[in-house]
Parts: sequence; structure tokens; C-alpha cells
Amino acid sequence: MYYSEITKIIEAGLDRDQNKVKNYALLLAKKLAQDGDIKSSKRIETVLLRKNNGSAITDALIAPPVDQESRLGIVDIDYKPTAPEIILSDSTKARLNDFESTIKIKDKLDELGMPFNMSLLLYGPPGCGKTSIANCLANRLELPLVTARLDTLISSLLGNTAKNLRRIFDFASRQPCVLFLDEFDAIAKARDDRHELGELKRVVNSLLQNMDAYCQTGILVAATNHQELLDDAIWRRFQTIIEVPKPHPDEIRLLFGCITKSLDLSHIMPKQYSIIIKQLDGLSYSDIQALAQNVVKQMIIKDKTIASALDFLCEIAIFKYHGNLDQQELIRFLLKCGLAQRAIAEYFHISQRQVRNCLVSSKGDV
Ligand SMILES: Nc1ncnc2c1ncn2[C@@H]1O[C@H](COP(=O)(O)OP(=O)(O)O)[C@@H](O)[C@H]1O
Ligand SMILES: [Mg+2]
Repeated sequence: MYYSEITKIIEAGLDRDQNKVKNYALLLAKKLAQDGDIKSSKRIETVLLRKNNGSAITDALIAPPVDQESRLGIVDIDYKPTAPEIILSDSTKARLNDFESTIKIKDKLDELGMPFNMSLLLYGPPGCGKTSIANCLANRLELPLVTARLDTLISSLLGNTAKNLRRIFDFASRQPCVLFLDEFDAIAKARDDRHELGELKRVVNSLLQNMDAYCQTGILVAATNHQELLDDAIWRRFQTIIEVPKPHPDEIRLLFGCITKSLDLSHIMPKQYSIIIKQLDGLSYSDIQALAQNVVKQMIIKDKTIASALDFLCEIAIFKYHGNLDQQELIRFLLKCGLAQRAIAEYFHISQRQVRNCLVSSKGDV
């Protein structure tokens, strides 16, 4: 049942690593209590208290790792990660749930001789939820989240990088947590920089060795925006690989609905609503969020609650063309989206003929 904790405690005892023994014993006590075995849980806690001179054990017993040269911390630790609201496709959700459920039955799988390596690689464009997923997972497993950003780590000498990686894995393996390696491709990317290939290979090898040892009992999540840069050997090491793509129309509708719930959208016709959703296609969750929030903000400034399709489409045009649009170009964009000339004329307080004129005076192609 509690094999992974017991193994960790034995291992730590043999290594004479007191902190690790204490942390895992504490986790074992918590798990026993959760499963209703209060008596055993209390017994462990009493031993811990007695051996710790009566003071309670905190989760922060172990000093976080620092870079030896700069003396700066190389991980961020969130002891109580919160779960942000995230919208994901059904298939992504199902795969994540599967990973989480498998972690929960790991002890049973070990007993059956079916070892499960607790490593998850998340890949996909920026702003689509990889970091948020790591937070949610740690929150749901009720574990601290230890985050290391490899892009900041790699900037030092490669010799130091290997050492820092080891320190991070050491730190994470001494306590129950989810280890999150963000910007994971940084290691692969270092290849085309100033570094020598042989030196880099050693860093990759040390990463692989650390991962192999750690993932037997520890949970690892890695995230990258550049999966194509990852070494094949690294790619194969992950037990679970999940793509976190840009939102599809269904997810766009959900996200859009969530962000704009303070506004009255009843004046937007279904056809116009579809146009807005179509125009948001291809953007990331964070782009859509920023864009829709801008409209909400504008409405608050103007003390309005009723939003029109044009409010959103103008914001979309400004976002897509980085604000480099004059009114004529903006109107051409709206006409191209399929908006009625009359609606556009009303919105800009101009005549329909003026709207039509924008079509003939073609300056650039928006
Ligand atoms: N799937 C999603 N659902 C809802 N909001 C999202 C989603 N993905 C990203 N966001 C928004 O964008 C922000 C940045 O997302 P993040 O998780 O850091 O993306 P990534 O790590 O993939 O770059 C989040 O804080 C959230 O506000
Ligand atoms: Mg991220």
C-alpha cells in the first residue's frame, strides 16, 4: 500500500538523510490519516515530534538549492499551489485525468510489477495552459510545486548547469512534491549557441540520469513550446506526453463566455457571434483572454454594459494588426468579416456611402 513512502524512508535512512526521513514519514502519516488509520498516523507523528525535540516538522525543512556562483535560488517553491480555472479540450482533459489517476494507484501497480514512471511532458504554443496545468496537478495531488526554469539555468556555464540540475533533482527527491521543469527545450536550444557539442551532451546525459532516478518515486512535469528541439532520447524518457494546443471553436466559445459574463451580449446576433469566434481562431488562450478583457475594461471606462459585435471585432483588428490601422482599414476589415454596411455606419456615425467608399479606396490590403 504505502510502498513508495516506505521505500523512500528506508533509502533515506541508509543515506543518513534525516530531513528526507522526516518529510516522507510526515507524508506517510498524512496518507494514513486520510485513509482513516488515525491510530497509525498519530503514532508516526508522535515519534517525529519526540525525535524533533518536540517542535513540529514543517515542509520547509530542506534549504532550497542555489547557484554556487551567483548564490541565487534556482527553484521557486509553492507550498500551496492554487488551481487556476482552465479550459481544455475533452481529449486533453481525459489524458490528464488518466495521468493523475495512475499516480494515485502507483503503489498497486508497483505491487503488480507494473512500474509506472511518473513523468509528464506538456508541449504546445505559449499561452495555452502548460504552466497552469502543472499548478492544477500539484493542487489536486495536494503537493508543493517546485518550479525550475531551465532557460535561466542554462545561461550559466554548462558545467554549472549540470551541477544545478543535480541540485534541483536532489532537492525535489528529498520531499514529496511535483517537480516542474519549465522551458524544458532550453537545454536543447543551447546547442546552437556558444556551447561545445560534447559539453552539451554531458548536460543532456546528466539530465537523463537524474530523470531516470527521480521518476521512480517522484513526480516530474516538463513543459516546452518547442518540442521539435527536444532530443529523441529525452522525448522517449517521458511516460506520458500530452499536447496542449491552441483552443478550438468550442473552447473559444467557453473562454469568451467566461470572460465576458459581466457584459450584456444580447445585442450580438448569432451570426455576428460566430464571426467573432471565427476571428479568434488561431489565437492562444492568453491572447483571447487579454483581448476580451480589454473590451470589458473599455466598457467599464465608458460605463456601458451592452457590448456590440463591433466592440469586439475592432479590438480583434487592433490586436491582429498591432494597432496599425486607420479607420478606413478598420472598416475594410469589418466588411471582410461579413458585417453589414449599416451596422458599421451606425457604429462610426458615418453614412453607408462612406462605408462603401472604403472598399474602393484600396490602400494596402487588410
Ligand atoms: N487552457 C486555458 N484556459 C483558460 N485560460 C488559459 C488557458 N491557457 C492559458 N490561459 C490563460 O493564459 C495565462 C498563461 O497561461 P500559461 O498556463 O502560463 O500558458 P503556457 O505555460 O502554455 O505558456 C493563464 O494564466 C491563463 O490566464
Ligand atoms: Mg508556461
